[in-house]
Amino acid sequence: MPHLLALDQGTSSTRSIVFDDSGRIVALAQRELPQHFPQPGWVEHDALQIWADQLATAREALAHAGLGARDIAAIGITNQRETTVLWHRRTGQPLHRAIVWQDRRGEPLCAELRAQGHAALIRERTGLVVDSYFSATKLRWLLDHVPGARALAEAGELAFGTIDSWLLWQLSGGRVHATDVSNASRTMLFDIGRQRWCPELLALLQIPAAVLPAVHPSSHVFGDCDAQHLGAALPLAGVAGDQQAALFGQACFEPGLVKNTYGTGCFMLMHTGPQQQTSTHGLITTTAAQAGAQAAPGYALEGSVFVGGAVVQWLRDGLKAIRSSSEVQALAETVPDAGGVVFVPAFTGLGAPYWDANARGAIVGLSRGSTVAHIARAALESIAFQSAALLQAMAQDVLASGGTAPLELRVDGGASVNALLMQTQADVLGLPVLRPAVTETTALGAAWLAGLAVGVYRNTAELAQLWRDGQQQGQRFEPRLPPAQALAQMAAWEAAVRQARAGS
Ligand code: G3P
Repeated sequence: MPHLLALDQGTSSTRSIVFDDSGRIVALAQRELPQHFPQPGWVEHDALQIWADQLATAREALAHAGLGARDIAAIGITNQRETTVLWHRRTGQPLHRAIVWQDRRGEPLCAELRAQGHAALIRERTGLVVDSYFSATKLRWLLDHVPGARALAEAGELAFGTIDSWLLWQLSGGRVHATDVSNASRTMLFDIGRQRWCPELLALLQIPAAVLPAVHPSSHVFGDCDAQHLGAALPLAGVAGDQQAALFGQACFEPGLVKNTYGTGCFMLMHTGPQQQTSTHGLITTTAAQAGAQAAPGYALEGSVFVGGAVVQWLRDGLKAIRSSSEVQALAETVPDAGGVVFVPAFTGLGAPYWDANARGAIVGLSRGSTVAHIARAALESIAFQSAALLQAMAQDVLASGGTAPLELRVDGGASVNALLMQTQADVLGLPVLRPAVTETTALGAAWLAGLAVGVYRNTAELAQLWRDGQQQGQRFEPRLPPAQALAQMAAWEAAVRQARAGS
């Protein structure tokens, strides 16, 4: 039976998972990734540590599975997106720690770009809003601040990459400098319509083209893993940014299919088909994972919730209402509802569709009878309300362009195990919420992309069937709340958001 190895390099951990060809997890190995905060607003990772951990976990996962490299048909890579590495082509040594997607040091340059009126061009070419979240201003910072970097870059001696490129380079022994369309679309340098690096944006941001990786479809044989790493020269055959990999692993291959990943934050992506859809409701446009050179490029609308599962951490660490995050459901279930309490966890402002960096958290509707259980319930509901606001924005965008509104929400990620949250999500959306038995959808997506490139799977129709089969062991949450009540709850949420924004 063919097996696939998925390398899942995330913001807080580095994991390797062995899947069998039916999508079942055979073995998993994981290491926590240390975070570096050199000054407020800056976040860095040690790129060499990432590589060492990735290799170590890959070896561990194979050992746990009792498999050798020759039992693996291909390797798929999925990764935290946007995080930027710049390294020497000759030695493979990074010039600086990786600058993480959460890092805000590019903001002054973004403000300049906005003030100079470049936002429309950037939006038109890249589908993105001008923000230091994306790679471009991180790379520019490295070229401007690491002594000698710009001259070396112009001489063709440096390579830039997001984490996928960095791992491809290391795994291939320095033979492959490449990325896929989904990761490239997060750099703010990639023309998502033409599917190539954008010369105008490179000039605007003063990025020498010599540092850029080649861009390929996500399902593609990028090269071979050097035999010294895992014991055989395995094909490196799938690459996608983690959110697009999850969209793929949820078999969202058609317009209107949408997934939400519930982690510290939440990332919602809806496939919009081969047409690039521009949002008028505060969402960004991004490239979906491409299932091979013959497959048409696909696009997705994306929105993110900054504080998702993190609100539960705040209940634990800030409010000390619970000892561990897993206690939140039991506490919230001691009351039948939030008793009129609405919690807007705008700790760091609000993301899509509100985009208000100055909004701050608010708990409204407190009465003499309110208890910590009501607050816990309202905290869980806030994750569902914020996600519902994203889905509504997506539905409005697609309906305005004559498309199909979503009929269901596919969910994954750590916090999706919380049944109360999933039921609340179904209730406020008035749509079924589908949770697969294997919620490691991100890694599964990378494995599927790799399996597709080497012939383990024939096409995406076969993968969609595998997803449907898996759904039989998964769970489906049907909406139970009368629509009028769901509407009233969303209205109360929006009223609370207005209060949280009032002072901003
Ligand atoms: O865009 C950032 C995203 O890719 C990070 O995902 O799961 O590593 O926090 P995660």
